[in-house]
Amino acid sequence: MKKVHIKSYGCQMNVYDSQRMGDLLVPLGYEAASGPEDADLIILNTCHIREKAAEKVYSELGKLRHLKESRSRAGEAPVIAVAGCVAQAEGEEIVRRAKGVDLVFGPQTYHRLPELLKSRAETGRPVIETEFPAEDKFDHLARTKVKRGVTAFLTVQEGCDKFCTFCVVPYTRGSEFSRPVAQIEAEARALVEAGVREITLLGQNVNAYHGAGLDGETWSLARLITHLSRIDGIERLRFTTSHPRDMSDDLIAAHAENPKLMPYLHLPIQAGSDRILKEMNRGHRSEDYLKLIARIRQARPDIALSGDFIVGFPGETEADFAATLAIVREVFYAGAFSFKYSPRPGTPAAAMAGQVPEEVKSDRLARLQHLLGTQQKAFNEACKGRNMPILLEKPGRHDGQLIGRSPYLQSVYIDAGTHAIGDMVNVTIDAVGSNSLSAHIHP
Ligand code: 5AD
Ligand code: SF4
Repeated sequence: MKKVHIKSYGCQMNVYDSQRMGDLLVPLGYEAASGPEDADLIILNTCHIREKAAEKVYSELGKLRHLKESRSRAGEAPVIAVAGCVAQAEGEEIVRRAKGVDLVFGPQTYHRLPELLKSRAETGRPVIETEFPAEDKFDHLARTKVKRGVTAFLTVQEGCDKFCTFCVVPYTRGSEFSRPVAQIEAEARALVEAGVREITLLGQNVNAYHGAGLDGETWSLARLITHLSRIDGIERLRFTTSHPRDMSDDLIAAHAENPKLMPYLHLPIQAGSDRILKEMNRGHRSEDYLKLIARIRQARPDIALSGDFIVGFPGETEADFAATLAIVREVFYAGAFSFKYSPRPGTPAAAMAGQVPEEVKSDRLARLQHLLGTQQKAFNEACKGRNMPILLEKPGRHDGQLIGRSPYLQSVYIDAGTHAIGDMVNVTIDAVGSNSLSAHIHP
């Protein structure tokens, strides 16, 4: 057996892609290594969304170069591959900057991994593959037979045509594409057979999903969800990430009507100031967002809302930033992610005037994160004493303890007794920590 080590950076779609790469390698005789030290093939599946993410990759490649050199002396040099969005964005530059890299391929070409490995072995030269091929990657991926956990990701939509001025995704993942329903359904059924009970449908703009349906019509995400929720064995469905502009009525209604669709929604607004939103090319104003949130809460009052925020976008004044704080106060998030603006080469915002100094960004980020932290704590606190169903997912810290997920995506520690991973149990929430809850099972 050969061994592969795959390290994933960035978003959940990268986690999904890494798994699919693992699946592709099974027929070639690969199994999972325990770490880079005993791997014959090391894949870094990279993220380019912020500068820090890309820099982490180069520093990791520096370490791997030393590992490769020392293992070469023992005649067992591993193949080093850089996949994902940094690979797509930087291509050949990676091979120039980081010695020892054998393969570079982007998010749209990883299905060719077996050929790329062959070509590397035959030519003895680094292989770089960053085109956007005409064929459907998903047609070439191995069907999942590998045992999965209780929860899994399933990509249904990929890429983006919205061109927010800060974002690299349209360049690294390409233009928007929706997989056909039949293909998604087959993958969902295979996941269920592999033990999965909760599926998170993924897309950079997942609610813009418009795939070929089973009846020859184009189906929306809501229709896809209705269809998938009829599969026996699927207990829970989620989807991420959504764009406010694509939050259609049928999807909002699904949150009211479909008990398998979990009450959690990641719906980034990015900033609170309409002037900044316009500069970002978001295509919505803060008022539109607030109206949308009100409609969603009307459909599903207990929904946990999440989002993404960027502070220090070019031209952001203190007053603009205050508008971000104001929208956060108004919405009340169960948990949200926030970042300092990071200029990405080739994106319009990177060339804009009024770049904000680093110290100002840091100060604003700290203030925003403090506010989001208090909201998250309050959301969790409000769960104390409540009853809810928990899907048991993985072992906890001590014997007999399991960690499960609440409908609102919180981690919940439970003394599980005779219950096992994969069981759905009804609990009462007893205590609330900073990042997790604890609960006891109803007799
Ligand atoms: N700088 C900082 N944050 C960014 N994001 C996307 N591009 C940038 C950037 N250039 C954030 C957005 C997005 C999340 C995935 O990452 O908030 O929703
Ligand atoms: Fe990072 Fe975006 Fe690529 Fe995901 S799609 S890996 S977040 S750059």
